[in-house]
Amino acid sequence: MTDPVLRPGSTVGIVGGGQLGRMSAVAAARLGFHAHILTPQADCPAAEVAHSLTVGAYDDDEALRRFADCVDVITFEFENVSAAGLKTLESLKPVRPSGSILAVSQDRIAEKSRLDAMGVAIAPWRNVASPADLAMALEALDYRCILKTTRFGYDGKGQFRVSAREDAAALEADLPYPMVAEGIVDFEREVSVMIARGVHGDVQCFDVTENQHRDGILDISLAPAHIMPELADHARQLAVSIAEGLDMVGLMGVEMFVAADGRLLVNEIAPRPHNSGHWTMNACLVDQFEMHIRAVVGLPLLPPIRHSDAVMKNLIGPQDMALCDTILKTPGQALHLYGKADARPGRKMGHVNMIFPKGALPGPFGLADALGVLAPASLSSK
Ligand SMILES: Nc1ncnc2c1ncn2[C@@H]1O[C@H](COP(=O)(O)OP(=O)(O)O)[C@@H](O)[C@H]1O
Ligand SMILES: [Mg+2]
Repeated sequence: MTDPVLRPGSTVGIVGGGQLGRMSAVAAARLGFHAHILTPQADCPAAEVAHSLTVGAYDDDEALRRFADCVDVITFEFENVSAAGLKTLESLKPVRPSGSILAVSQDRIAEKSRLDAMGVAIAPWRNVASPADLAMALEALDYRCILKTTRFGYDGKGQFRVSAREDAAALEADLPYPMVAEGIVDFEREVSVMIARGVHGDVQCFDVTENQHRDGILDISLAPAHIMPELADHARQLAVSIAEGLDMVGLMGVEMFVAADGRLLVNEIAPRPHNSGHWTMNACLVDQFEMHIRAVVGLPLLPPIRHSDAVMKNLIGPQDMALCDTILKTPGQALHLYGKADARPGRKMGHVNMIFPKGALPGPFGLADALGVLAPASLSSK
């Protein structure tokens, strides 16, 4: 067996050049590794900070081979490489997490089937491949469901909400099948766990994060989540059992609903750094991106100790860009911009981490509180 541990100076191949690739590349460089990005777009967010690039499409076999040639290990920030592409990559270099895990997370049917098979509680769901399936699914889910495309959905895209019989009548005849229908969960809150698992099966979880979405896009994450310690333990154990059940090596975000009755239902998994883990960049000694690189290159996984409370707010184009000047002037706020030129509506342009002394994060925390109102100084002087 080849030694799974790579030494500094080795090259980590990252599939995808978005902000997650950018922040992973910085973490790799900090540990003395080269980051080499596969991206279809030479001027992507990761390009500015990476050691080198392969420019090519994710499904271009020749580009995948050129990319694999340049690297010692392969990981992802973009999950949607085709099955054939994953096979090509796996035939050439170690791929962490493995192609089979990517295949599960790419497809909501595969993901839900796998979670069901592992005995993980999820929302009730139905396979909807045709209008006939749709009629049955709506009936079974009592006309309260979210229809989601099985593949390529992100930030709430490809989703249609049905809250009543009338909504169903208004659905277009030509929905983008195949889809899944998911029963609407009346959740009390949404939480997530970032979990890292190393090449020797060692695991580490970050503190449970609480997430608030707006228009289907993550808006604010709070760390720690406002949940009882027992529930937080349970959430972490759930993430561990999923990572172990999938035999994952790398980093994975597990999104969960806390149902009104206090049960945890898993929403989805993402075997890569996750937006809800961005707070770790300023509130932990080892952040999610460093943990990702450590897991992938085989370095020890340290307990991800959180030294501060944190609120992360996404900066969504174009309106949130106006907040940058204030953030830059406010103590305790760390601005992270992704270098995207075009602030299109709904585009994630950056995020801000607001850092508070540990234990100081107040209870319910909304957008109005997020900027300026609760400057860390005013909290610590209380
Ligand atoms: N079954 C559901 N019940 C209630 N809310 C849901 C459900 N599915 C999704 N949502 C809401 O929509 C958000 C985005 O859905 P998700 O399935 O996570 O898709 P994406 O891949 O776009 O993140 C969730 O974080 C949650 O706020
Ligand atoms: Mg999600």
